[in-house]
Amino acid sequence: MINAKRIEEDLNKLARIGRIDSNNGLTRLAYSKEETKAHDYVKKVLKALSLETKVDSFGNLHGRMEGNGMPIIIGSHLDTVKNGGRYDGSAGIVSGLEVIRCIKESKIKFKHPVELIVFRGEESRRFGKPSLGSRLLTGLISKNDLDRLKDNDTTLRKAIRDCGIHLGSSTLNSAKAYLELHIEQGDILDKKKIQIGIVTGIASSVRYKITVYGRKGHSGTTPMNSRRDAVDGASEMILAREKILMAEHKKGRATVATVGIINVPSGSINVISGKVEFYLDLRDIDIKNRDETEKLILKTFDRIAKKRKLQLKYGLLERTMPVELKRDVQGLIENSCKKLKIKHIFMPSGASHDAIYFSYKGIPTGMIFVPSKNGISHAPEEFTELKDIATGAEVLLETVMQLNQK
Ligand code: HGY
Ligand code: MN
Ligand code: MN
Repeated sequence: MINAKRIEEDLNKLARIGRIDSNNGLTRLAYSKEETKAHDYVKKVLKALSLETKVDSFGNLHGRMEGNGMPIIIGSHLDTVKNGGRYDGSAGIVSGLEVIRCIKESKIKFKHPVELIVFRGEESRRFGKPSLGSRLLTGLISKNDLDRLKDNDTTLRKAIRDCGIHLGSSTLNSAKAYLELHIEQGDILDKKKIQIGIVTGIASSVRYKITVYGRKGHSGTTPMNSRRDAVDGASEMILAREKILMAEHKKGRATVATVGIINVPSGSINVISGKVEFYLDLRDIDIKNRDETEKLILKTFDRIAKKRKLQLKYGLLERTMPVELKRDVQGLIENSCKKLKIKHIFMPSGASHDAIYFSYKGIPTGMIFVPSKNGISHAPEEFTELKDIATGAEVLLETVMQLNQK
């Protein structure tokens, strides 16, 4: 039986790793020493459960039960955004640990061994690309990215090496199934007071670094009507993007677009900026809507640049396809909820997850959402009730049991 106390203990221990900010926020960036420390904690727990553990050639931590059938993989991540919450990723890992404990205690012989994988670098704060560990393991990222992706002057390759990891080649192509429990990071379950979300599909992003070139100038001597102010141009573009997406929202579409980073290299109070870089994250679960919105946004940016006599450079950072998750695993999760008499709904995921890449590989993939209080995530206020995680872990355990019968 799932033991909420043990889940709580793991959660609390992990929540102490990377607490750099006084307001309880966690910062455990991709391939950072804090992420490594969190992995080391889980490795210790896995060893205590006498699981065969290994760190693969991309730094992902594997803990596998004995047995030689195709594994049932339970995965998620332990890295966070900067000053993030303690449940994003961690909820899936601590639930996976508890499921493994329960299976070991049940002494049931498994024909499909359960394997827990803790992926590196699911968040894109350092290198601008999500799910680095799972994409490297499944071979779904170009090797050039190891040198192309940078955090200031540190390439992804160097960051991986600095963690003492010896880079190798991708190895994971098949598994019996991949399951991931994750906090919803939205407010649907919380608002509806429903305990479980069975994920039907996962949205994904197209991401750009957009550089706006104007003309640098003196803030005191340049008349307003002769400026080519890159900050003003970028600001008009960023607000135009919001207007376009609000119109999409009014049409009932789920398309969202965010500008989370704006850099003004000249950065001086008395200089009219000649260059601004901003980063756009546009996502939807419906690729047609996403493509249409992308075209409209870029056309609008071009129009604003022309009007303001600015130049634009588009750097495509990321383009991943959203996935529809196959009904088979959803059905097993649904059976588990019904058997355990747990209220559940089917719902899409607006957040992207490592699970996407297992679905791309054609591996039967399922996600189980548990409620996020007020839908807050990627912030220290992120909160999920322990009892909700325990309920999610029960559904995860029951689904693993069903998969093992197949
Ligand atoms: O960006 C995302 O959706 C995820 O939190 N990495
Ligand atoms: Mn996240
Ligand atoms: Mn996550």
